[in-house]
Amino acid sequence: MAPRINRALLKEIAAEQGTPCFVFDLEHLKDVAGRIIAVQRASFPCGDLFYSFKTNSDKKIVSVLRELGYGAEVVSGRELKLALSHGFLPSKIIFNGPLKRRDELQLAIQEGVTIHVDSLDELRLIASLRPGPRARLGLRIATLKGSAPQSWSRFGLSRLELMDALQLIHREELLVRGLHLHAGSNLKSPELLALAIRDASTAAQAVVESSCAAPEWIDIGGGFPGPSAAHRSGPQTFRAYILAAKAALKTWPSSLNELPVFAEPGRILTEGAGYLLTQFVARKHRDPVDALVLDAGRNLIPSAGTHFHPIHWLRCCALTQRFAVYGRNCFESDLLCDWAAGPESPRPGDLLVIGNVGAYDWSTAFPWTDAPIPLVFLQARVANPSVTPSS
Ligand SMILES: Cc1ncc(COP(=O)(O)O)c(C=O)c1O
Repeated sequence: MAPRINRALLKEIAAEQGTPCFVFDLEHLKDVAGRIIAVQRASFPCGDLFYSFKTNSDKKIVSVLRELGYGAEVVSGRELKLALSHGFLPSKIIFNGPLKRRDELQLAIQEGVTIHVDSLDELRLIASLRPGPRARLGLRIATLKGSAPQSWSRFGLSRLELMDALQLIHREELLVRGLHLHAGSNLKSPELLALAIRDASTAAQAVVESSCAAPEWIDIGGGFPGPSAAHRSGPQTFRAYILAAKAALKTWPSSLNELPVFAEPGRILTEGAGYLLTQFVARKHRDPVDALVLDAGRNLIPSAGTHFHPIHWLRCCALTQRFAVYGRNCFESDLLCDWAAGPESPRPGDLLVIGNVGAYDWSTAFPWTDAPIPLVFLQARVANPSVTPSS
């Protein structure tokens, strides 16, 4: 079902803000976030959800999610401080990522924030800070890559590194209190998540058998596809991923079966709530399809080449033609869509809105040729509720 776009509202915003301009539908976010919580609770009643800040760490968005009960998954000192200053309790913050600086680790330890150790070197650094057994330390287990399940992800501890880590933890009188994995982004199927979890069961066994572990949580990470990947993952629901994870966790040592299970959703929450308002600038006659130029380009939607971004025209008109849609940047590859529907005679100034840009596109966009691009928050709906992968 195609969402019905609130054209009048978007035209008003374009008149006030100019284009290009990001628009974020907070009501859509609340809807999706509420459904995700309900699904997670149904399978893991004492589990918890930690919103992955890197997806889109705008203060309004993280505040809305905190109010709904989400914790924060952060990957830098900046995000850690943002979470603390926006009222996330330290017990509801998880510090992940491959680079955690000494002062950032010190802050996390002092505040009682959970730290998922990514490497042996990081563990040595933590040990040098003498955090004691009360520190909330978890180990990230390296998984097979979600995108290419025959090779290993660079993140987390390999099985050999895990053995060294357990010895070091024992020597330093630390305690492992959690296990973490993240099977990859936009996982194409629930089976890929299940595969990563099943594969980590031997690592979980090794942790349980060591004398320095008292596990209190299992964290299955994120990777739940958003609407921009639905063409690749099919109509997978968040529920399907959670059920697959639950079944796969049964292969882990039985002593871990009753632990709270955490998940770290990112793009599934925010992607569909974000839009980019833009306008048509020029038409070029080309073979086999004409090219349209917009005033926003690939620098604002970095995933345009690989992810699905619906394009809606705000003028009510029959979409009878096919076009290649280009951005305003001076590089040939600034292609937003190679086959989009448009009106017979586009008029300069025609407004368009491009969907599914509320996650990493927003956070990795850079202005390049423009001043910073405005981000407008709405309490009203941009589109009617459509089928989303969260249901
Ligand atoms: C450790 C970890 N958790 C959660 C996420 C969020 O993933 P997604 O936005 O695909 O749900 C990521 C993304 O890369 C991650 O690396």
